[in-house]
Amino acid sequence: MSVGVSRASSLRVQQASCRVGRRHTIKVRAAAASRLAGVEMAPPDPILGVSVAFNKDTSADKLNLGVGAYRTEDLKPYVLKVVRKAEERMLAKAENKEYLPIEGLAAFNKATMELLLGADSPAIKEQRVACLQSLSGTGSLRVGAAFIAKFMPGTTVYISRPTWGNHKNIFSDAGVEWKEYSYFDAETVGLDFDGMLADLEAAPDGSVVLLHGCAHNPTGVDPTQEQWVKIVDLLQKKKHLPFIDSAYQGFASGSLEQDAFLPRYLVERGIEFATAQSYSKNLGLYAERVGAMSFVLADSDAAQRVLSQLKRLARAIYSNPPVHGARIVSEVVGSEEMFGEWKGEMEMMAGRIKGVRQDLHDALVKVNPDKDWSFVLKQIGMFTFTGMTPAQCDNMTNKWHIYMTRDGRLSLAGLSSAKAAYLAEAMADSVANH
Ligand SMILES: Cc1ncc(COP(=O)(O)O)c(C=O)c1O
Repeated sequence: MSVGVSRASSLRVQQASCRVGRRHTIKVRAAAASRLAGVEMAPPDPILGVSVAFNKDTSADKLNLGVGAYRTEDLKPYVLKVVRKAEERMLAKAENKEYLPIEGLAAFNKATMELLLGADSPAIKEQRVACLQSLSGTGSLRVGAAFIAKFMPGTTVYISRPTWGNHKNIFSDAGVEWKEYSYFDAETVGLDFDGMLADLEAAPDGSVVLLHGCAHNPTGVDPTQEQWVKIVDLLQKKKHLPFIDSAYQGFASGSLEQDAFLPRYLVERGIEFATAQSYSKNLGLYAERVGAMSFVLADSDAAQRVLSQLKRLARAIYSNPPVHGARIVSEVVGSEEMFGEWKGEMEMMAGRIKGVRQDLHDALVKVNPDKDWSFVLKQIGMFTFTGMTPAQCDNMTNKWHIYMTRDGRLSLAGLSSAKAAYLAEAMADSVANH
């Protein structure tokens, strides 16, 4: 039985009699109030808290469209076949569990740089990349934020409005000031390109600009390549440092190469940048916490010095990264056969999400033909950003047992074709009546 807060505190001050067995009654003095009694309860996480609430719901209709995690058509978690294969090979090799170097597994570092920048990138050849294996996307961003706090004091990080729910926490906790730039136009359900350029123009020269490499979370709206070119022109003119959050490489288009347009273009333009990579989504390694924090710099001397400081920061936070996920990535990327299989599975996952996106759109048109639902098809990646208000989102959960974040984001990776009509009915009801 859980003890409520008020009952717990009354227990602290009262002397309780406690019966032990049938014969002995002993006097127990409850513990004094905790020295941490003043610590307030933190709010539940806006994304991961949704999964906790979902797990408690007993309805047969329930759907978890909160967290961005890929599910099969049966709505089961999916372990990529190529990951299982890599793990079998790893088991056969019976490798040891010794500490990795602070910067991570060398084969992983090579693979991750090549995936992002291309195997024959001049930045890699000229050893201008400071690459630190880190704890997936979040941990990589956090080390990057710590680096900014220490070596770029007073610099503001500009983040898109809206953005992934954790970005603000990451920079705030590292003591880095952040401000927002315009990104989403609710009217057109598209990019507010002019607003974005105006805000980045107005930012002090030399600011850090956090950019989603592809499949912007939560909006599913990316700049076109022509728009990226203009954005990069401005970043260069203003001497801003681009910081690319690359959490969905392969998930936007189904192609690893196409989704790496931005970092490769920055290399082509000779612009220095920072980047945080994650393998949670594209290899389904959510719980393995594998990713990388890198700086692509003008020369190898700068890269060596920056890497040494990234290592120093990581050493004091978590010492060195976990090995299992890093071995999987390097096995998959290091074998031509497995790399090809991975690409196939990624296309399959991206394709399934595109399929349910179409199903949802068609079902919405059926249930309410008078409303324009075309935004569902325009957006890309794992999510659809519906523009639903918090009250409408609450109706989705309370009445329809559909769990989602209260910013109106739905993860289509957690939807099946079979459930598309149910979701459409719930959305149409919530939009019309709340
Ligand atoms: C935009 C963005 N960045 C980073 C992450 C980090 O994810 P992880 O820490 O699981 O790699 C996510 C996860 O949802 C994300 O959406």
